[in-house]
Amino acid sequence: MGPGVEAASPLLTARQVTKTFGGLTAVNKLDIDIQPGEIRGLVGPNGSGKTTFLNLLTGFCISDSGSVTFRGVNITRQGTHRRIRLGLGRSFQSPQIFRDMTALENVFIGSYRYLRAEPYHALLGGSRTRRADREGLAAATEVLEFAGLSQWAGTRAGSMPYGAQKSLDIARALSARPSMILMDEPAAGLNSGEAVQLTALCRRIRDRGITILIIEHNMRMVMSLCDRVTVLDHGVKIAEGTAAEVEVNERVQEAYLGRKH
Ligand SMILES: Nc1ncnc2c1ncn2[C@@H]1O[C@H](COP(=O)(O)OP(=O)(O)O)[C@@H](O)[C@H]1O
Ligand SMILES: [Mg+2]
Repeated sequence: MGPGVEAASPLLTARQVTKTFGGLTAVNKLDIDIQPGEIRGLVGPNGSGKTTFLNLLTGFCISDSGSVTFRGVNITRQGTHRRIRLGLGRSFQSPQIFRDMTALENVFIGSYRYLRAEPYHALLGGSRTRRADREGLAAATEVLEFAGLSQWAGTRAGSMPYGAQKSLDIARALSARPSMILMDEPAAGLNSGEAVQLTALCRRIRDRGITILIIEHNMRMVMSLCDRVTVLDHGVKIAEGTAAEVEVNERVQEAYLGRKH
């Protein structure tokens, strides 16, 4: 990374973040700085605390100690909706979509729920609501196209191929116009063709200026996609650097690659 990138102030910062479950320390004094516009990989063996850390970032769970700052705001104890409104989006390991709604409706609802939720407009009806609906629909159509899902716009989400459902879950997150999106194993369950499409979608998302933190087991995808990679083992950060640096790190090979191969 050039000095210019290092000089920029981070979009997201975690300091000494710790989360225990009973006697188990799932995330242990984790420090992380994520720069705007980067694609950061978060890897590590099963049970190393990756999902727990993501949950701490989204507010799905709250840390025992430490702090998380996003866009300069201390969000350590804030609720998920406040974080979403601040621009922190997330996709899920199993797609969180309404299976009986169409793809377009899913994305439309995604934006409406978080950004246009002004119930009194709906109650009053009238031109404001209709205009918001029209704008929402146009935005949803655009997001679907961006995610490569135009062909499924009118299809019931539950009937779409699994890879398309996962892209739809990302589109749903994008519809809230995040400045950063967190992804937990987006390639899990995808065939290799779908994984390639997902990689391309992640690049398009980054090219729009949206920062990505991605947990991924598919090391080829991590290597080709991520600017930097953070490696966890037993809740502790054991390495951080470019994919190439991390790949040859001895501790990483012991903890992660060593166990895998
Ligand atoms: N809600 C929970 N209650 C108890 N233990 C949990 C809970 N969530 C995660 N853990 C434990 O925390 C550790 C880290 O889990 P997790 O964050 O899911 O790891 P990863 O995503 O890296 O596989 C594991 O030992 C897991 O069993
Ligand atoms: Mg996990």
